Amino acid sequence: MEPDRVDTNLREALIEAARNAVEGAYVPYSSFPVGAAVLTADGSIVAGANIENASYGLTVCGERVAVFTAAAAGHREIQAVAISTPRHPGATPCGACRQVLNEFKPAQGDLVVLLDGSDGIVELRLGDLLPMSFGPRDLD
Ligand code: THU
Repeated sequence: MEPDRVDTNLREALIEAARNAVEGAYVPYSSFPVGAAVLTADGSIVAGANIENASYGLTVCGERVAVFTAAAAGHREIQAVAISTPRHPGATPCGACRQVLNEFKPAQGDLVVLLDGSDGIVELRLGDLLPMSFGPRDLD
């Protein structure tokens, strides 16, 4: 795959996976479900959803559940993420999730962020959401 470019079929599959992942959200406190799906370097799609907690602060966002699930399965490079937020279509990832995504961005090119908005898909780059980021390459 070329850097910064997501094949049309994979793009559709990624968005579909994020939408489906909304079903798994555990949101008894906010009632704000978030589904996310990441596309890894080998073309795998791994989904996640936000999981809340009675202690509130231990809530984990959908994006981080997807990234950590992918990382735990051995994936180390994420080409793209799709995020579906039916209660507020087009919501962008929180700061913590931006930093976690940054950890696994591609060596070449930027990580593509697809927001499932009310007027269609909004396509961004992680570099726009997290400019001048600090990441693993800064520790080399
Ligand atoms: N949330 C996400 O899952 N991703 C974000 O980027 C922002 C917020 C979740 C956390 C919480 O369960 C709910 O949305 C309301 O903040």
